[in-house]
Amino acid sequence: MDRYLVFGHPVRHSKSPFIHTLFARQTQQELEYGLAEPAVDEFAQALRTFFDQGGKGCNVTVPFKEQAFTLVDRLSPRAKRAGAVNTIKLTDDGVLLGDNTDGAGLVADLKSHGVTLADSRILLLGAGGAARGALAPLLAELPSELVIANRTHTKAQQLAAEFCDLGPVTAQTYDQLAGPFDLVINSTSASLQGALPPLAPALIHTDIAIYDMMYGASDTEFIRWAKQHGARQTMDGLGMLVEQAAEAFTVWRGIRPGTKQVLRELKRNLGVI
Ligand code: ATR
Repeated sequence: MDRYLVFGHPVRHSKSPFIHTLFARQTQQELEYGLAEPAVDEFAQALRTFFDQGGKGCNVTVPFKEQAFTLVDRLSPRAKRAGAVNTIKLTDDGVLLGDNTDGAGLVADLKSHGVTLADSRILLLGAGGAARGALAPLLAELPSELVIANRTHTKAQQLAAEFCDLGPVTAQTYDQLAGPFDLVINSTSASLQGALPPLAPALIHTDIAIYDMMYGASDTEFIRWAKQHGARQTMDGLGMLVEQAAEAFTVWRGIRPGTKQVLRELKRNLGVI
């Protein structure tokens, strides 16, 4: 049977096996999907061993995405832009192809929620790996403006400079931000520390769409805060997780699974509904 897995550390709580097993059942593909948690300095060896032993493809998650970028034979254009690889496929001619489906997953999820990106003013919070992966797919949707704000401003400036050939992207400090924005995307890891990005409450209004790339069994810190200040449309990163997986599955198997039912089952599994 064709073998796939996700590399991460820690990875025990990953939902990827659950999601890909449902995709495989739905599309009647014969495959198995597991987990691998190599020590941080043993990822390269573990990756090589997996493919030497007949593995067909893998996902890569924190903290290995940047390292995977350096280990593959060839990069897709979107992985090259993202500077990180979350999906690897062994091609028929034996080449390890590195791809990045995170940004496509974000955009697909935003669209499935009915969020309009064309001509919109988007505020992206954070300038780490997650923000980098999102920038090209977001700019491809032709927003009127995309502003990056980050605690360490120089990192936002670097990202804006790197992506400004793709669209109207600028960097501003949290203090400089002037609304109204149509969409705020939180790509920071602040909620992992139970913290909030230092955003002025005045930027939140009833018609704004709020997206947090994080998710949990209950509202993230950021979503709770945005609701308190009047946001009516809030979305967490669970849909992005399923959409990036669907995109990876399509890369591997050449067949696109449906995501709605799988997202519902995942929510049930997590106890969200
Ligand atoms: P990821 O790959 O998930 O993006 P990362 O590369 O470590 O992770 O980036 C984390 C992002 O969250 C960074 O933009 C970080 O800001 P700094 O560049 O200033 O470190 C941001 N971040 C983390 N904790 C934060 C906090 N408490 N408030 C605001 N931003 C925070």
